[in-house]
Amino acid sequence: MDPPAGGFDGFLGTRASLMLDVVVVAMAIVLPLLGTSIWLVRYRRRFAWHKRMQLVLGGLLAVAVTFFELEMRLHGWQARAAASPYYGTASEPGLLFPVLYIHLIFSVSTAVLWIVVTVRALRNFPRPPQPGRHSDAHVRWGRLAVWDMVATVVTGWVFYYLAFVAGS
Ligand code: HEM
Repeated sequence: MDPPAGGFDGFLGTRASLMLDVVVVAMAIVLPLLGTSIWLVRYRRRFAWHKRMQLVLGGLLAVAVTFFELEMRLHGWQARAAASPYYGTASEPGLLFPVLYIHLIFSVSTAVLWIVVTVRALRNFPRPPQPGRHSDAHVRWGRLAVWDMVATVVTGWVFYYLAFVAGS
């Protein structure tokens, strides 16, 4: 069956499409898991669990983002957001657009940082993982990657609300 114009509807009862809803809910699951992974390594020194959790989180996010990007390329989001009071007009774009650009700055830099932090950790920590010469750099860049992800999620939710919830 062909999807309807604009892609499949989501399941949260808003104007958003299926993959938008999947990603918004996935983000609510990712943050506590990420927090748990950092807590485990920081306060419990469970290095192998931290490694496993980061690899699983990174893998799941990569799959979700791939499907999400495919849906955005195929169907876009603008038709679904047009009813928002923040959409604006062709000559005067609304608040939605600057919010989207801010979100994109965080989301693109997060994707790059996660790949770099993960690849460097896999290359430079021993197996099984233990603190070592790579620790200082990993902790510094890892913390930045975590806060970048938090900013990505928060700005993503703000955009979702402005585009697909407000005005309904
Ligand atoms: C995107 C992926 C990752 C992020 C964002 C991340 C983040 C972090 C952060 C923030 C800390 C410091 C916690 C603190 O004390 O405040 C840390 C510690 C650590 N991480 Fe990761 N990590 C990632 C992937 C990995 C991977 C794949 C490995 C193993 C190959 C790993 C091994 C370690 C180890 C051994 C420590 C302890 C360092 C020490 O305290 O000396 N991490 N990580």
